[in-house]
Amino acid sequence: MFRCWGPHWGWVPCAPTPWLLLSLLVCSAPFGLQGEETRQVSMEVISGWPNPQNLLHIRAVGSNSTLHYVWSSLGPPAVVLVATNTTQSVLSVNWSLLLSPDPAGALMVLPRSSIQFSSALVFTRLLEFDSTNASEGAQPPGKPYPPYSLAKFSWNNITNSLDLANLSADFQGRPVDDPTGAFANGTLTFKVQAFSRSGRPAQPPRLLHTADVCQLEVALVGASPRGNHSLFGLEVATLPQGPDCPSVNERNSIDDEYAPAVFQLNQLLWGSSPSGFMQWRPVAFSEEERARESALPCQASTLHSTLASSLPHSPIVQAFFGSQNNFCAFNLTFGAPTGPGYWDQYYLCWSMLLGMGFPPVDIFSPLVLGIMAVALGAPGLMFLGGGLFLLLRHRRYSKYQSIN
Ligand SMILES: *[C@@H]1O[C@H](CO)[C@@H](O)[C@H](O)[C@H]1NC(C)=O
Ligand SMILES: *[C@@H]1O[C@H](CO)[C@@H](O)[C@H](O)[C@H]1NC(C)=O
Ligand SMILES: *[C@@H]1O[C@H](CO)[C@@H](O)[C@H](O)[C@H]1NC(C)=O
Ligand SMILES: *[C@@H]1O[C@H](CO)[C@@H](O)[C@H](O)[C@H]1NC(C)=O
Ligand SMILES: *[C@@H]1O[C@H](CO)[C@@H](O)[C@H](O)[C@H]1NC(C)=O
Ligand SMILES: *[C@@H]1O[C@H](CO)[C@@H](O)[C@H](O)[C@H]1NC(C)=O
Ligand SMILES: *[C@@H]1O[C@H](CO)[C@@H](O)[C@H](O)[C@H]1NC(C)=O
Ligand SMILES: *[C@@H]1O[C@H](CO)[C@@H](O)[C@H](O)[C@H]1NC(C)=O
Ligand SMILES: *[C@@H]1O[C@H](CO)[C@@H](O)[C@H](O)[C@H]1NC(C)=O
Repeated sequence: MFRCWGPHWGWVPCAPTPWLLLSLLVCSAPFGLQGEETRQVSMEVISGWPNPQNLLHIRAVGSNSTLHYVWSSLGPPAVVLVATNTTQSVLSVNWSLLLSPDPAGALMVLPRSSIQFSSALVFTRLLEFDSTNASEGAQPPGKPYPPYSLAKFSWNNITNSLDLANLSADFQGRPVDDPTGAFANGTLTFKVQAFSRSGRPAQPPRLLHTADVCQLEVALVGASPRGNHSLFGLEVATLPQGPDCPSVNERNSIDDEYAPAVFQLNQLLWGSSPSGFMQWRPVAFSEEERARESALPCQASTLHSTLASSLPHSPIVQAFFGSQNNFCAFNLTFGAPTGPGYWDQYYLCWSMLLGMGFPPVDIFSPLVLGIMAVALGAPGLMFLGGGLFLLLRHRRYSKYQSIN
C-alpha cells in the first residue's frame, strides 16, 4: 500500500543542486517526443443482434502499427487492448458466440500474427467505506459496506452519447436492483475518449496524452451514500503478462504547473516498455469545478493475484483471451476521512490514461524551465537559481498549507 497525495511533497528535492537541474533537463527533453504524434483514429459502436449490447471499438492507425481498444459494458465495464505491427489489422466479432455462455473466440484481432501486445482491464466493483472512525491514510479507509458489483448494473445505449468530433462516448449505469433507492438520482459514468494527436485536456488533472492513448473519466454523481462519511473506491482487475502481477510505480516531479499541488504520477506497466500502461495522477475531484479546493487524495493498493472466480465475470475478456483463472486486482479509493469529500455535493470524478507503447512523459512546464535556464545560464547564477527555486517552493508550500 502507498499513499499518493497530501503531505508527500516532502518528496520534492528541497535543495536542487545545479547537477540535478542539469540532468533533469537533459533527461527529460527527448522523452517528451516519444509516442506517435498523430494517428488515424476511428471510433465505432459495433451493434449486435438480436440482443444489443454496448461494444465500442477504437482503432488508431499509425505509420506501421494499429492500436485497438474494445470497450464494453457486457458484464462489468471492461476494455481489451491490442497493439499490432500492421496498419491493416481488424477486429472481428461473432455476436452469437459473444452472447453465449462460453464466449471464448468471439473477439479476435486479425491477422493474429501481427499482435504485439494484448491485455485487458475490468472495473469489477464500486466500493464504499464508512470512514467515520478511520485514521488518515488507513487502508482500507474505513469499514467496507457491501460493494456494488458493476456486473449487476444496467447501462445506457452509448450510441446516444457517441461524439465523433471529440472521439468520446459515455457508459452510464445504475444498479439493476436498487432496493434502497441509493441510485434513484444517481449514475456512475465511464467516459471514454480517444485522441488523434497529442495534447492536454483543459480540465485538471490535465494529463499529457498522445495519440496512442485513451482517456477514461469515472464520475459518480447523485448517488446517496450509505453513511455520513462515505468514501468511494473502484476495484480494478487486469490480466498479468507473466507469473507476476504488474506493479504500480510512482513518478515524482517537481512540477505541478498542470495539476496544482500534485507532484506524483502513478503508472501501472504491464511489462518493460513498449507494452501497455495505465497512468493517473493521485487526485480526484468532489466538484464539477475541478479546483484545488475540491481535490481529493487517491490511494491505490498493490496489485495482487486474484482468482477469476472471486471477481465478477467479464465476457469480453473471455471472448478475447479464453478462460483465465488468474487476474491481478487492486483497489483505488478516493478521498480522506477529513477534508472535502463526496458528501459535499454527491460528486466524484477521477481520470486516467490507458495506452500502449511508451507512456507520455511530461517535460517541465515553461515556468520551471525558465528557472532552470536561469540556473544554468552562468555558473555564478546556479546557486542563485537554486535559492530562487527554494524561495518559490517555499512560497508555494505556505500557500498550500492553507488547505489543512
Ligand atoms: C442503441 O441504439 C441504436 C440505434 O438507436 C441501436 O441500433 C442499438 O442496437 C442500440 N444498442 C443497444 C445496446 O441498445
Ligand atoms: C515504425 O515506425 C517508426 C517511426 O515511423 C520507426 O521508428 C520504427 O522503426 C518502425 N517500426 C517498424 C517495426 O518498422
Ligand atoms: C459464430 O460462432 C458460432 C458458434 O457459436 C458459429 O456456428 C458461427 O459459424 C460463427 N460465425 C462466424 C461468422 O464465424
Ligand atoms: C509483425 O510481428 C511478427 C511477429 O511478432 C513478425 O513475424 C512480422 O514480420 C511483423 N510484421 C511487420 C510488418 O513488421
Ligand atoms: C465510532 O466510534 C464511536 C466511539 O468509539 C462509536 O460509538 C461508533 O459506533 C463508531 N462508529 C463506527 C461507524 O464505527
Ligand atoms: C467537444 O467537447 C467540448 C468540450 O468538452 C465541447 O465544448 C464541444 O461542444 C464538444 N464538441 C462536440 C461536437 O460535441
Ligand atoms: C431524487 O430527486 C428528487 C427530486 O429532486 C427528490 O425529491 C428525491 O428525494 C431524490 N431521491 C433521493 C433518493 O435522493
Ligand atoms: C448523519 O448526520 C446526521 C445529521 O448530521 C445525523 O442525524 C445522523 O445520525 C448521522 N448518521 C450517522 C449514521 O452517523
Ligand atoms: C477491495 O476492497 C474490498 C473492500 O474492502 C475488498 O473486499 C476487496 O478484497 C479489495 N480488493 C482488492 C483487490 O484488494
